[in-house]
Formats: sequence, structure tokens, C-alpha cells
Amino acid sequence: MQVVGVIASGIAHEVKNPLAIILQGAEFLDKKIYAKDTNINTAIASIKEAVERADRIIKGLLDFSSVSKPDMHKEDINSLIDKCVFLLKHEFDKRHIKVVRNFNNVPSVFIDKNKIEQVFVNIFMNAAYAMDKTGGELTITTRVLKLDEPDARYPDKEMFPSQADTVLLAEITDTGGGIPKDIMERIFEPFFTTNRSRGGAGLGLAIVKNIIDMHKGMIYISNVDRKGAKVRIYFRMHQ
Ligand SMILES: Nc1ncnc2c1ncn2[C@@H]1O[C@H](COP(=O)(O)OP(=O)(O)O)[C@@H](O)[C@H]1O
Ligand SMILES: [Mg+2]
Repeated sequence: MQVVGVIASGIAHEVKNPLAIILQGAEFLDKKIYAKDTNINTAIASIKEAVERADRIIKGLLDFSSVSKPDMHKEDINSLIDKCVFLLKHEFDKRHIKVVRNFNNVPSVFIDKNKIEQVFVNIFMNAAYAMDKTGGELTITTRVLKLDEPDARYPDKEMFPSQADTVLLAEITDTGGGIPKDIMERIFEPFFTTNRSRGGAGLGLAIVKNIIDMHKGMIYISNVDRKGAKVRIYFRMHQ
């Protein structure tokens, strides 16, 4: 683990307990105080909210700096994606997002199921946020991709074993606002977010990138011509 990872996880562990104590205290006061002054309730509510936010960031940091080695097994990506879609059904419905599954018959891949679920959940939530106001369509495609296809984008040839000329592609497109050009370079940076006011910590894509690297895969994010963002993940099919 890199030094920054050691520091991050150290801080995260140290801060978790005091946070838990603050939250318990606020919950205790909330139950005990029958305040005539509504400002008191408002103050307690905002303490709880702030602690929960800090707790989410800490959890993200722990995930980000997670030392745990990936636990790899052969898995079916289509059913894993289905599970993630099911987990987020409420989020999609709430925002009037239609999910289009464009699944093809693909071979199983060697992955850490929990970690890759985290990848899809993060990407789906980003898409959901991007389509928050207008509703929209989330399209998920899985297929075998030939690395010599014209739009394959394959700069790091040494990333994949030389005999591998195909990868499993999972592509997620949304019909949100897309990613402004001037922030495109920064979206994978830890703590970079344009959603701070909505509770975003900016750790989502940093964690996603980490996990994909662990799997020796690749991830590209771009904008679609019409509207929205496109995320492409390449999984190795050959070990
Ligand atoms: N599908 C998307 N559409 C538009 N912008 C996106 C999308 N996915 C990511 N982004 C941009 O990338 C930033 C970083 O994403 P992320 O690391 O997941 O952090 P967070 O979700 O907490 O903001 C987001 O704040 C947003 O500006
Ligand atoms: Mg996110």
C-alpha cells in the first residue's frame, strides 16, 4: 500500500470512534429533549446529518485504501449487473430513469464480486445523479470486444497478455448532462466532486479506478455525441 493509503486508513480508523460517540450523543439528546425551541431540534438534526456525512467519507476512505486482496472467482457479469440494478431500483424509479439492458452472451470472468459490484453501483449512482432533474435512460451493454475494433481505444498494449485480442466490455451510457471538458481530467482524483452540495465526497471514481486496476482491467469515460456520459470497462477474459 502507498504511504498515502496508510495515512488515509489510519485517519479513518482514528476518526470512526469519535464520530460514533458524537452520533450516539446526538441521538440521545434527540430522544430526551422535548424542546419548545425548534432551533434546538434543528441543531441536533444538523449535527446528525454532519456526522453521517463524515461517516460516509470515512467509509469511502477505508474502501479507497483497502488493503484487502481481491478475492477472485469466475463470475457472470450479466447477473452481477442485474443485482446492482435491482439494488438501485428505488433510486432509478425516484428519478424516472429507464434502465435498458443490452446484454449479450459473454464468458464468465475472474473477478472479486463484491468489489466489482461496488464499481457498478458507483457508476450507476453517478449516472443517476447526472439525470436527476430530467429523468432519462441508462443503457448497459455487455459484449465481447475485439481490441482491434476502430473505437476500442487501446493505448496500453502491455496491459493485456499478448495472446488476448478480445476483452469483455461493459458499457454504461446515460442521458444526463455529460462531463464538462474542463473537469474531464480530474474526475478520477480523490475528493474531486461537483456534487458536494448533494453529499458527494468525490471518492466514487477514485475507488472505481483502484478496483479496476486491481483487476488489471481498464476504464474509459467519455461523452456521447448527443448527450450524456459513457463509461467503458474492459475486463480480461484470459488470465
Ligand atoms: N455519468 C456522469 N455524468 C456527468 N458527470 C459525471 C458522471 N460521472 C461522474 N461525473 C463527474 O465526476 C465527478 C466525480 O465523480 P465521483 O468520483 O463518483 O464523485 P461524486 O459522485 O462523489 O461526485 C462527479 O462529481 C461529476 O462531476
Ligand atoms: Mg460518485
